Formats: sequence, C-alpha cells, structure tokens
Amino acid sequence: MTSNSTATYTSIDSKLDSKLDSGPSKSSRPALFYPLDVNNLHLANRLAVSSMCSYAAGPGNQIANLHLSRYKSFSNQHPGLIMIEGMCVHPKGKLDEKELGIWNDEQAEKLKQVIDEIHRDGCVCCVQLSHGGRKAIGDCENGNGFEDDGVEILAPSAIAYDNRSKVPKAMSRKDIDEVISSFSQAAKRAVDISKVDAVEISCCNGNLLHQFMSKATNLRQDEYGCQTIKSRCKLLLDIINQVRHQIGPQTPIFVKLSACDNIFKDESLDEFLEIADLIVATGQVSLIHVTSGKITPNSKPRYSLNPDPNVPGHIPLASVLKKHIDDECLVGCSGALDMNVTMLNKYVEEGLIDVAFIGQGFLEMPDLVNQFAAKLNYKIK
Ligand SMILES: Cc1cc2nc3c(=O)[nH]c(=O)nc-3n(C[C@H](O)[C@H](O)[C@H](O)COP(=O)(O)O)c2cc1C
Repeated sequence: MTSNSTATYTSIDSKLDSKLDSGPSKSSRPALFYPLDVNNLHLANRLAVSSMCSYAAGPGNQIANLHLSRYKSFSNQHPGLIMIEGMCVHPKGKLDEKELGIWNDEQAEKLKQVIDEIHRDGCVCCVQLSHGGRKAIGDCENGNGFEDDGVEILAPSAIAYDNRSKVPKAMSRKDIDEVISSFSQAAKRAVDISKVDAVEISCCNGNLLHQFMSKATNLRQDEYGCQTIKSRCKLLLDIINQVRHQIGPQTPIFVKLSACDNIFKDESLDEFLEIADLIVATGQVSLIHVTSGKITPNSKPRYSLNPDPNVPGHIPLASVLKKHIDDECLVGCSGALDMNVTMLNKYVEEGLIDVAFIGQGFLEMPDLVNQFAAKLNYKIK
C-alpha cells in the first residue's frame, strides 16, 4: 500500500468540506458514543483523554498524589480511553526532573495504584512511552539542557535543538540497542506490573523517535539514517517489534505520530502516508494518533497554522490517513477537537477518525463527557 497521491493541505481541506456536507446524523446514539473494540479491549465511547505530562513526579520520578487525584477525576467521567501522560523509558531521556519514569520496577509498581483506580471505575487505560532525545535534560537531578552542564544527552545526529541548547551526542549502535531495550522493557513493566491495557509509543513533539524520523534532525548514514523513509523509520519499527515480543500478542500497541514538521516548503503528506504504511505493515499496531510539528523551534503544530479556523487542524491529516489505511488500523487525533462537539460527532460518524483525543478540555471541564453527551442530546445510561 504505497501512496501515489500528492495530498497538500489545501486539497485536503477542500475534500474534507465536501465530505462534511452530507447531512445530519440519522442515529439516536451519537457516533461519539458508539463503543469500539480494539483487539481484546472494549472502549465504551470514542472520547479519549489525551496524554498530558504534569511534571509533578514524586521522588524517584514516581507517581505522586497529584496523579492519583487527576486520573481519578478523568475515570469518574467514563471516557472510552484514558492515556497516562508521557513516561520516560530511560533516565537520559527525561524532559524535566519531575517527569514520570518507567525505567525501573518500583516506578511501575507505583503506577499500578493509578491503573487500579482507573479500572475500579471500569475504564480502559494506555500508558505513553517516550524519550526526549535532544530535548531531554539527561540523567541528572539538576541539568537544564540549555547550557553546558556536563550531562550527556542523545540524538540521531549532533545537532542542538536551538542555539541555547547543548549539542547532543550522535548515538552509537550500542546507544540505539539500549534505547530499543529501554522501550520494550518499559512496555513489559507497564503491562506485567502496572497492568495497563495498552501501550503507546510516542514519535512526535520533537522527541527522540521523531528526531530519527525527521530529515531536519537525522543526518546519519547508517541503517537508521536519513537515506530513505524506511531507514528513518527503522528505530520506531524495531521498537514496535521488540515491544510486541515483550508484551505478548494481545495488548494493543498505539503510535502517536507526527504527520508533518511544517518547516519545509511544499511539504506534502505522501511521506506521512508511507510512514503509516510501514507502521501498519508490522501488523502490530492497532491505532495511530495523528499530531504534528515541534521538531524544531519554528516547527508549529498544524492546528496553529490552520487555513480553516472552523476545522481542528489535525482532522484533515487524520482523515487522509483514515481514507488511505481504511480498516487496517484505527486512527485518532488531537488538537482543539472540543471546539465544536456537533462537528466532532460528525467526524466520527463520517468515519474521518475513529477516536477523538482531548487534552486541555479534560483539564478545564470537570464533566466533559456528560457535557458532550448533553450537547448531542444524548443521555448516557
Ligand atoms: C499540559 C499538557 C501536557 C501535555 N503532555 C503531553 C504528553 O505527555 N505527551 C503527548 O504526546 N502530548 C502531550 N500534550 C499534547 C496533548 O496530548 C494533545 O495532543 C494536545 O494538547 C492537543 O489537544 P487539545 O487541543 O485537546 O489539548 C500535552 C498537552 C498539554 C496541554
């Protein structure tokens, strides 16, 4: 399944407009509240809490009381899925000294307290696994990443994030093997010890896996290098396969993927679709969560560059992906999806996306799920 389209932002937006002209919902249960089965998991509806780092970890980068109350406030509302915020798989990949970690068993045991509470409310949860790469502060208590504090940070190539950031070490083959192992061991801990229902591998927001994926940050010439889309994807694909090996066949794997960097002139989405094809071809990934940008300081997420302020910026990208991969993989996206609940329901109803990830809205609205239902004249039983 290789793309031969030349989808551009403008062509995508006009295609989307015509698709959305097709009339009102005919079903009494709004599509946003249809259940969804993902492998062995049953999602009660299509609303998902998007991953949101709180940078409020307790000692040892472990779960703190704030996390228990925050996730309880989400599970009380019964969204279809709760994403646990980005958890770092290796101390060198920490974005902040208070980022949650999952590089040891104690951290995973503490995480289980949150997962147990979420399960007690009958909700499904997924943990996001990440590594900051050149955006990290490194393995230290007081590094800041913005000056030469002597702490090593890693990246595909020795290119600093900006002129205040330190230059990362270009990773050796041994470093790459260690990162693959860190992701797969973290996934195993999350499933075996913490009892999460799914794991998401984060390849976006300018983090390490996104840095390997992007031509702006990967200048390598080895098998993980910039020569082809496949070589830029190799680290992500190796991690997917190793994670699957460690967690067994049942637990769903999701990927949060940057669709475009928004820094190169005339960027098309063909590359994104090819990358998605490679991910789908592993046969291991159940859902792709579409986002964009943040690989460099001037790489804006698509929602801040949106040509149509009435359509959430990642919907056009996610819908192109959905059309391309059809039922081979579920597609979700985030980015101001809560701006218009009626339209959001329509995106799901029309099959443009399968799952709606909401971030900020869940922090601001204590009763978001019920409020969305009420706006759609639906009473949750
Ligand atoms: C406070 C905050 C923390 C976030 N932390 C993460 C994170 O840990 N991992 C991630 O992939 N995205 C993170 N995001 C991005 C959200 O998951 C989401 O993609 C983004 O906020 C757009 O959705 P929204 O407009 O509904 O908030 C964060 C967003 C916010 C507001």
